[in-house]
Amino acid sequence: MANQVAILLSASSGDEIILDDKSHTFNYEAGGAAFNAGVQTRTLKSDHGLLDPSEIEAAIRPPGNYHLPRTALICLENTHNLWGGRIVPLQNMEAIRSVARKHGIRVHLDGARIFNASVASGVPVKKYAACADTVMFCLSKGLCAPIGSILLGSKGDIVRAVKLRKMLGGAMRQVGIIAAAGIVALEEMVDRLAEDHENARKLAEGFASLHGLSVNLEYVDTNIVIVNTSPELPPAIKIEEALREHGILALALGPRFMRFVTHHDVNSQDVDRTLSIMRKIITSL
Ligand SMILES: Cc1ncc(COP(=O)(O)O)c(C=O)c1O
Repeated sequence: MANQVAILLSASSGDEIILDDKSHTFNYEAGGAAFNAGVQTRTLKSDHGLLDPSEIEAAIRPPGNYHLPRTALICLENTHNLWGGRIVPLQNMEAIRSVARKHGIRVHLDGARIFNASVASGVPVKKYAACADTVMFCLSKGLCAPIGSILLGSKGDIVRAVKLRKMLGGAMRQVGIIAAAGIVALEEMVDRLAEDHENARKLAEGFASLHGLSVNLEYVDTNIVIVNTSPELPPAIKIEEALREHGILALALGPRFMRFVTHHDVNSQDVDRTLSIMRKIITSL
């Protein structure tokens, strides 16, 4: 919802928005950008989550030609979900911001896990946020609130966003009870994210040592581990099902491609148990 509202704030029907072809907004928001804002998406391939500022610049439509759509928005994602929780470096975001400013185009940051990026990199969230006109982040996920995402922007943007949210059916009354958990998330759960990152690294290294599984360890920056399974193993969905029988929840994202996420309720012993069960599963399936 927050990303959709952000798109509506910056783009109108017939406009074009630029985003990574592996971004959450492009892949997992049910085509909402087209449905809600009537925009077309111009996807670019990133280098493991990093969009190339010069490729973005080349994709921006020149003004003044009535055949062309107007490029209205560049969407960034940090950390990058499908690229395994990779942190997009601040310098990359700053370079994209410069391109956007040069062409008068707005930037939205899908920072669902921006606190993970900040804790792992030491870069303050506000520095990442300064690269964008609007930012969303999730109070759920690693920050542990049961529900909730926040949209940040200028005062004018937020006044419009509240109205857009209402029109999209996302407004709630009696929301204080939920907001209370969000305050705990921000006050008590941010520093704790480092534990999730440590557990993810341990999990990733353990998986990488198992025959038939591979993990690109270079990009395990935060709390997500993407595991590739070799063709000699059963499809990832079968592994997902077998793990679930042991109470371990992971997600098959493709036939040979799974996602594991560490969080508050996963500790180092759970990682050991997951590795030992995974070893048994892949030798018995
Ligand atoms: C990168 C990313 N962006 C956005 C979201 C969703 O945010 P919301 O449910 O608030 O729309 C998620 C996960 O659900 C995500 O992984």
